[in-house]
Amino acid sequence: MPFIQKLKKITTADNTESFHNQEVGESYHSHSGAVEEAYKKYVIPCKIKEIAKTGSLKILDVCFGIGYNSAAAISAALEENPNCQIEVIGLENDPEIINQIKDLSPPIPYYEHYKKLSGHSLQFTHENVTVKILLGDAHDTVKNIQDNYVDAIFFDPFSPKTAPHMWNTDILKQMYRVIKENAIFSTYSCARIVRDNLKEVGFIYDDGPIVGRRGPGTIAFKIEIFIVNV
Ligand SMILES: C[S@@+](CC[C@H](N)C(=O)[O-])C[C@H]1O[C@@H](n2cnc3c(N)ncnc32)[C@H](O)[C@@H]1O
Repeated sequence: MPFIQKLKKITTADNTESFHNQEVGESYHSHSGAVEEAYKKYVIPCKIKEIAKTGSLKILDVCFGIGYNSAAAISAALEENPNCQIEVIGLENDPEIINQIKDLSPPIPYYEHYKKLSGHSLQFTHENVTVKILLGDAHDTVKNIQDNYVDAIFFDPFSPKTAPHMWNTDILKQMYRVIKENAIFSTYSCARIVRDNLKEVGFIYDDGPIVGRRGPGTIAFKIEIFIVNV
């Protein structure tokens, strides 16, 4: 049987590189533009620049892959406030994809620092920024994060069709637990099952941005409800 390489490098329509996973049969980013997707589906809807103004930003990057989403977020945050204290927690189960980071040079200013990451070196601190990848199944590793801890969640698994377990209520309950009130969870999917599951665990959702020719993404919030006695 011929050997089929798992990861095939591709160039997306904004001329930035990504990978196609030939075992899963899906790409790591939208073909309409990998870096464009990072900014338009995650950084902008999660209001990263606005949070950076407060001086503290904690991001959960679920399904970290080659890290474009959170590297773009750090770049945007530091542009807004170079003194912002930033912590990124990445959840990823495949060291092979993390090992690709060192050979990539996307037009994301902070990405040069991400090249310190590999399947063996899963964290770094540089000045006011800490990035830490928790290696393993996200269902388990997320349990190491405190309640109400993060200011934004970038949720980027393979599709609900290919990886339904990554969109089930077990993992979404954990997302609800770790996100702060009024903080934004963003994902590229607008699938009915995803939105139903978000609602079931307590999130309120809305359409996210439309990028490329796909449907909208989904943004979701955990909103504090005040019960007023009348
Ligand atoms: C669509 S790609 C994410 C792309 C990524 N956000 C980026 O910017 O490169 C999905 C990622 O989920 C990871 N993954 C799949 N199953 C996982 C699991 N159970 N726990 C953690 N990560 C998982 C895959 O290895 C892959 O890197």
